[in-house]
Amino acid sequence: MEVDKKDEREAESSEQVVNPWEVSAKDGGKIDYDKLIDKFGCQRFDESLIDRVQRLTSRQPHVFLRRGVFFAHRDFNEILDAYEKGDKFYLYTGRGPSSEALHLGHLIPFMFTKYLQEAFKVPLVIQLTDDEKCMWKNLSVEESQRLARENAKDIIACGFDVTKTFIFSDFDYVGGAFYKNMVRVAKCVTLNKAMGIFGFSGEDHIGKLSFPPVQAVPSFPSSFPHLFPGKDNLRCLIPCAIDQDPYFRMTRDVAPRLGYSKPALIESSFFPALQGENGKMSASDPNSAIYVTDTAKDIKNKINRYAFSGGQDSVEKHRELGANLEVDIPVKYLSFFLEDDSELEHIKKEYGEGRMLTGEVKKRLTEVLTEMVERHRRARAAVTDEMVDAFMAVRPLPSMFE
Ligand code: TYM
Repeated sequence: MEVDKKDEREAESSEQVVNPWEVSAKDGGKIDYDKLIDKFGCQRFDESLIDRVQRLTSRQPHVFLRRGVFFAHRDFNEILDAYEKGDKFYLYTGRGPSSEALHLGHLIPFMFTKYLQEAFKVPLVIQLTDDEKCMWKNLSVEESQRLARENAKDIIACGFDVTKTFIFSDFDYVGGAFYKNMVRVAKCVTLNKAMGIFGFSGEDHIGKLSFPPVQAVPSFPSSFPHLFPGKDNLRCLIPCAIDQDPYFRMTRDVAPRLGYSKPALIESSFFPALQGENGKMSASDPNSAIYVTDTAKDIKNKINRYAFSGGQDSVEKHRELGANLEVDIPVKYLSFFLEDDSELEHIKKEYGEGRMLTGEVKKRLTEVLTEMVERHRRARAAVTDEMVDAFMAVRPLPSMFE
């Protein structure tokens, strides 16, 4: 029996693994996102949807849409169909507070959610799963709660509108209507099903098994009676990276059985680790990540020391062959955060044809990221405890659809 399990695990480890706890590509290669779309059964985000977003919001689509960072969705077209007829929706996203500071990968869904909130003029709920991290990372209850509040400051610094945003910690908020929905969901999911979706095993403690309904139910408006009274049919749209998909596959599976609408999703690829595109930037490996608390010097050192380069070994060879942009991390990072389309194209052409050297590209990336992190640091320094309390207060949001 043990031997069978070991064989199974070894067979799995040569495949790519993408779940909320692990992201690794097959045999050290790149994550194959087309395969993920097929495996998970989501839909590809195509040009026609981007055009629709532009038309409906009368503004240029976010750079993360234009450049395919958000590449997959579930029923986003239905959200747009309803919006076109005048029906609004609400946004739901979250963070598991496992570290003091966020890294650049974590900022991606929050930057994008802020754009969606502004462009569509809709309310937003942000879940801080301090309970999840307490159970998975072996943090104390008090420490996870402290980290949740610290992370809330970074999230608020992304620029959310307090009149349209409710941030909550599970330890503070779970109860009442939210808890009733958790129990409704839990009754629909067998142990076998949970083991299949999340890979739980007999050795996991039962706290882990009990968690998925907690992340599922913010997808249902009735979990927030202070926000959406009488609006049980309001649709929910969840922006996140694709690692969170298993939670919402489960949620979408049970929703119709409870008489609820399935949440729609808009899902991003991963901001990769400095070392390359075979994994995501992860808080559990500090050398893989650039944090929003890193100094200009840290950023420069990390990029120079760790950012995997597609440049050639010698200048002569580089001038002759050019860089391999497919594997180059500095170019990949610029494609997330350098807003100017024409400058990005220029860098790709010059570097790809060997006229620009790795050092020059890394220097430009260092400037772009330093400026972004400095801007974030200033915004975060302006976030007071009173502001955190205001975002986290259980209250109605009177102007949420204006
Ligand atoms: P967490 O804290 O691991 O991640 C927070 C958000 O950041 C995304 N993310 C990334 N995106 C791009 N590149 C990366 N390298 C990267 N690393 C993380 C995650 O997909 C997530 O959107 N269980 C969740 C918290 C949660 C949640 C939600 C997330 C609760 N409800 C609803 C999204 C939507 C967690 O631990 O996320």
